[in-house]
Amino acid sequence: MTILRVDGLGKRFGGLSAVDNVTFSVDEGEIVALVGPNGAGKSTLLKMIGGMHTPSRGTVTVGDTPVGGLKPHRSRRHGVAMVLQTPRPFETMTVEENVMLGALFGGESMAEAEARRRASAMLEFVGLGDRAGDEVGALNLHEQRFCEIARQLAGRPTLILLDEVMAGLNDTELEHSVDLVRRARADFGLTVLWVEHVMKAVMNLAERVLVLNFGQLIADGEPTEVMRQPDVVAAYLGDRRMTA
Ligand SMILES: Nc1ncnc2c1ncn2[C@@H]1O[C@H](COP(=O)(O)OP(=O)(O)O)[C@@H](O)[C@H]1O
Ligand SMILES: [Mg+2]
Repeated sequence: MTILRVDGLGKRFGGLSAVDNVTFSVDEGEIVALVGPNGAGKSTLLKMIGGMHTPSRGTVTVGDTPVGGLKPHRSRRHGVAMVLQTPRPFETMTVEENVMLGALFGGESMAEAEARRRASAMLEFVGLGDRAGDEVGALNLHEQRFCEIARQLAGRPTLILLDEVMAGLNDTELEHSVDLVRRARADFGLTVLWVEHVMKAVMNLAERVLVLNFGQLIADGEPTEVMRQPDVVAAYLGDRRMTA
């Protein structure tokens, strides 16, 4: 069943097209990577799906609900969660309090005790169970991203959008992240659309890859086949941020 449909989506900033007439859909339970060189429009596309940017043209539909142009807290009620490239947690609150907020603002109403229970379950899930009482500011960037993932999961989304959450991780952390996304799908039935620069993670985790270049979707398919396509290889040449 299709959970996300993006149709003719475009975003202009001033005169420049950051995302240009992009069409694709994602099935329930799929793990899909969105890749492309720096500046290709990946974050802009994700933010339109997450309701943080209003599209200049086209539509985004999650389930049966059009979400394009909704405020993030409203998209959240339609089951869409997003982890931004740079998380902005409430630094002086504890890790557990941050994750509790995710449960409380997930769109369901619940008692504080239930939010706390969910928060501790999600912190265990991402491997931060022993950091619950620490201030978020005491976490390193990698841990802050995982705290943010726990915060989003606490609201029980059906579709999660992740923007480069694996950047800068060592091999062990990368394996942990890949495993985490797989478990999130297995345990919570999540659908995952994630922007990724780390090719090892893409090849290990993605079931399908979408490639953006200059705002346009130039490939959509099976990872090994897509990454061999000459126009995809050409798009990546000269991108210094590209990691093996
Ligand atoms: N808020 C904004 N205002 C103006 N230009 C933007 C804004 N956000 C992104 N852009 C431009 O849109 C293009 C795509 O950016 P982005 O979606 O961040 O790319 P990516 O995530 O693939 O690196 C870039 O040229 C960028 O400078
Ligand atoms: Mg980006």
